[in-house]
Amino acid sequence: MKNGENYSTNFKNYLRMQRLFKPLALIIIVITAASFTIDRDKKPGNNTTVDRKVDSLLKMMTLKEKIGQMTQFTSDYDVTGPTMRQGYKDDIKAGRVGSVFNALGTKYTRELQKLAVENTRLHIPLIFGYDVIHGYKTIFPISLGETASWDTTAIEQSARIAATEASAEGLHWTFAPMVDIARDPRWGRIMEGAGEDPFLGSQVAKARVNGFQNHQLGATNTVVACVKHYAAYGAAQAGRDYNTTDMSERTLREVYLPPYHAGVEAGAGTLMSSFNELNGVPATGNKFLLTDILRKEWGFKGFVVSDYTSVNEMVKHGIVANEKEAGELALNAGLDMDMQGAVYYNYLEKSLAEGKVTIQQIDEAVRRILRIKFELGLFGDPYKFCNEEREKNSIMTKENLAAAKEIACKSIVLLKNDHQLLPLQKNIKTLAVIGPLANDKQDLIGSWSAQGDYTKCTSLLEGIKSLLPSSTEVLYTKGCNINDDSTGYFQEALDIAGKSDVIIIAVGEAAWMSGEAASRSDIGLPGVQEQLVKEIQKTGKPVVVVLMNGRPLTIPWIAENVPAILETWFLGTRAGDAIADVLFGNYNPSGKLPVTFPRSIGQIPLFYNAKNTGRPMEPDNKYTSKYLDLPNTPQWPFGFGLSYTTFSYSDIKLDKQKIKMNEPFHISVTVTNTGKYKGEEVVQLYVRDMVGSVTRPLKELKGFQKISLKPGEAKEVVFTLTSDDLKFYDIAMKYTCEPGDFKVFVGTNSSDVKEADFILE
Ligand code: NOJ
Repeated sequence: MKNGENYSTNFKNYLRMQRLFKPLALIIIVITAASFTIDRDKKPGNNTTVDRKVDSLLKMMTLKEKIGQMTQFTSDYDVTGPTMRQGYKDDIKAGRVGSVFNALGTKYTRELQKLAVENTRLHIPLIFGYDVIHGYKTIFPISLGETASWDTTAIEQSARIAATEASAEGLHWTFAPMVDIARDPRWGRIMEGAGEDPFLGSQVAKARVNGFQNHQLGATNTVVACVKHYAAYGAAQAGRDYNTTDMSERTLREVYLPPYHAGVEAGAGTLMSSFNELNGVPATGNKFLLTDILRKEWGFKGFVVSDYTSVNEMVKHGIVANEKEAGELALNAGLDMDMQGAVYYNYLEKSLAEGKVTIQQIDEAVRRILRIKFELGLFGDPYKFCNEEREKNSIMTKENLAAAKEIACKSIVLLKNDHQLLPLQKNIKTLAVIGPLANDKQDLIGSWSAQGDYTKCTSLLEGIKSLLPSSTEVLYTKGCNINDDSTGYFQEALDIAGKSDVIIIAVGEAAWMSGEAASRSDIGLPGVQEQLVKEIQKTGKPVVVVLMNGRPLTIPWIAENVPAILETWFLGTRAGDAIADVLFGNYNPSGKLPVTFPRSIGQIPLFYNAKNTGRPMEPDNKYTSKYLDLPNTPQWPFGFGLSYTTFSYSDIKLDKQKIKMNEPFHISVTVTNTGKYKGEEVVQLYVRDMVGSVTRPLKELKGFQKISLKPGEAKEVVFTLTSDDLKFYDIAMKYTCEPGDFKVFVGTNSSDVKEADFILE
């Protein structure tokens, strides 16, 4: 058998024969499916072949079956939203569901797949989705933290391992990567993404898509990626989740869209529309986003799923009067699959009958969904991801856990290290480990931790104890809770602090304080934790603060007074080991902040790639852009992170002062390790267009390179740019670059840079 038409012909024969002779018909369907498998497997990724198969299957489908493919329901195995649905198994049997999410494990996915394949007329398999955001069972650092590694190879590897584990448990599709740019740390979902910068965000989006899909949809150790949440969800006003977003098309295109586009360019099979409205139109019903940009400009061929009941929510947004109209708006905008809301399920037939949507639109949506199922090879073998043997052997392997530790180490950011307090000596006599997060495991795997088992996580205390010799006495007490007012444990903390030579205090947020529906109006340390740090600091002993959190925190007192501070985010299964390695010098930290840390919430939004204004801040001039009560500068800028060693940067060398359009030019600096330790440095390159037909940011990241240097070693770091890297949306909204003066900056973070000038001719 050669192609889909044959599949179709055979299928019709089968249906005819079924009426005549049921048992024989059964044999024929088995043979048909088998031949189909062989055919598909011969031509993996051959889209024309897949398209033919899709079309022939589509011809056999009833309207109800088509709408079924456009419908996704959650299983009750895991809960990731506000509504549940009873009876989804009956819907599967009736062919009224094309996808199930939150169902996992080979046993359960096999059971559900069987319901679909054996009970429905056309035997179309289900596609199983799940939120595999930063690991499946082996949990990696939260995505924001992992981005602090600026190591796209490591980030790709973590997504690869997550895909290997998830697919071994019957899953086909992850709702990741989350690529929403976020400039407001009050927004709890900042922890799921790659921070504030479009360039870094795009590199990370690409790495994650490649890690999940491995350029091989259909291999049983890959999952389909879902770039989300399209679009601009991270710009929720006041950082309040699900809130309105409103911005110029220029900001949308220059700041928020690039990472989604990068994910599409990397070949992501699916996208998820976001909850928010954008400039008056909810993303789920936004034709400009879902069709004009996504399909027409970017040529996206995969399918778009809504977010959880976001079709229904368009009624509450106030853009449609009822759910039926919501479905019409969504389909007309270009939304292919309705997650959980049953709007297509309930109303699309009626909408079609009334001429509010067309059968061509429905067919196109179904085509896109079936195409992915074919690409995955599910028609050939609907159970190919249900391999119990693989499930047993590929989860939390030694290699996966080792990778989790390595990536956790890379994600740690050293924020302060006065008088080289860190790394600590391993021969300390008595060490106090204090703080509500010091012996915590549950929080360390962070929000969206999929099937992560926190009991398998190493706490900081465990990590420290297993690293230090038995001659060191390690004293522990929690000192306080994360989020209440009780100071009852302070005295015990002060007692052990008094007996110790060095004190490590682990403070921060609980995992539930970031992630979805977890915005905070105050992003300081919750509860009495700061008070605890102040009390301990009064002992006059050396204090190291270890921060664990899902977002930038405002901690000006700690920043000012505590000599050593480590930002460790939520580092995942191997958190404690990784932090201990950094504290005691087995690993020299190299992480850099992917997001600005403000001094105070009053500065938000605060991001490095801001504009100059007509009255840029001058300290002695009242009538300039500033606050009366705070500097404009952040606590720690974007790209910031120290090392146990030090690096010096030479002046910038440009191979040309005058650059021609489309001609590459080179920018180089020599970086020298001037300290005592071997270390890694992320060398960052920024550009400023001095005069434009529209104003341009003070700096824009255009490149970075992570290098490793031995003490005394020097390396020349060369960046190559072309005029393409200088493009922006001009006054006529044309994506172009304009001749004139530019500045280029190279340095260790977005504020500490060397600069040089060039001219684009
Ligand atoms: C809602 C979240 O916004 C989205 O990120 C997630 O993928 C879905 N729920 C499914 O769990």
